[in-house]
Amino acid sequence: MNRSRFSATVVILLVLCLSVAIGQMKHEAMGQNAISEAIAVLQPTKGSSVSGIVKFEVVDNGVRVVADLTGLAPGKHGFHIHEYGDCSSVDGTSAGGHFNPTGMPHSMPSSDKRHVGDLGNIVADSTGTAHLDYVDTMISFTGPNSVIGRGVIVHEKEDDLKTQPTGNAGARLACGVIGIAK
Ligand code: CU
Ligand code: ZN
Repeated sequence: MNRSRFSATVVILLVLCLSVAIGQMKHEAMGQNAISEAIAVLQPTKGSSVSGIVKFEVVDNGVRVVADLTGLAPGKHGFHIHEYGDCSSVDGTSAGGHFNPTGMPHSMPSSDKRHVGDLGNIVADSTGTAHLDYVDTMISFTGPNSVIGRGVIVHEKEDDLKTQPTGNAGARLACGVIGIAK
């Protein structure tokens, strides 16, 4: 191998190493940016003692929602993602209406024509504790259906899953903002 051919080979090897390294860095950066978990800490509105944690996790077929709330009256309570991650008003109305980026009617979580924020009802037991764990196929952490930065509201009454546009679920008992989790 003459000298110039040797130099050319070295240059080619260096370029190859560099491109592999850049590819790896890009891959790692994308992995770090992709959100896989989110959390909302629900605080009581004025006159309420309802609070809790709602966790969101990307899974194969959607986003798993795991909610644990306390301080509720026994029975069903409307449970939604609202448009704004703003819990600044004492009654929770600053969170706006149901998150509805697709312009659909209010419905139930199993419907494909629903507000993206329609998570249905959460059921409290006789002690006022409620646990919900299901996979939602419509909410997302990316694109127009992303729920990051939106609000979570639990209501006084049952969501009837049909009254427009709220499900007639009554007052807002707790409010939280969906943030990126570790
Ligand atoms: Cu609501
Ligand atoms: Zn709705």
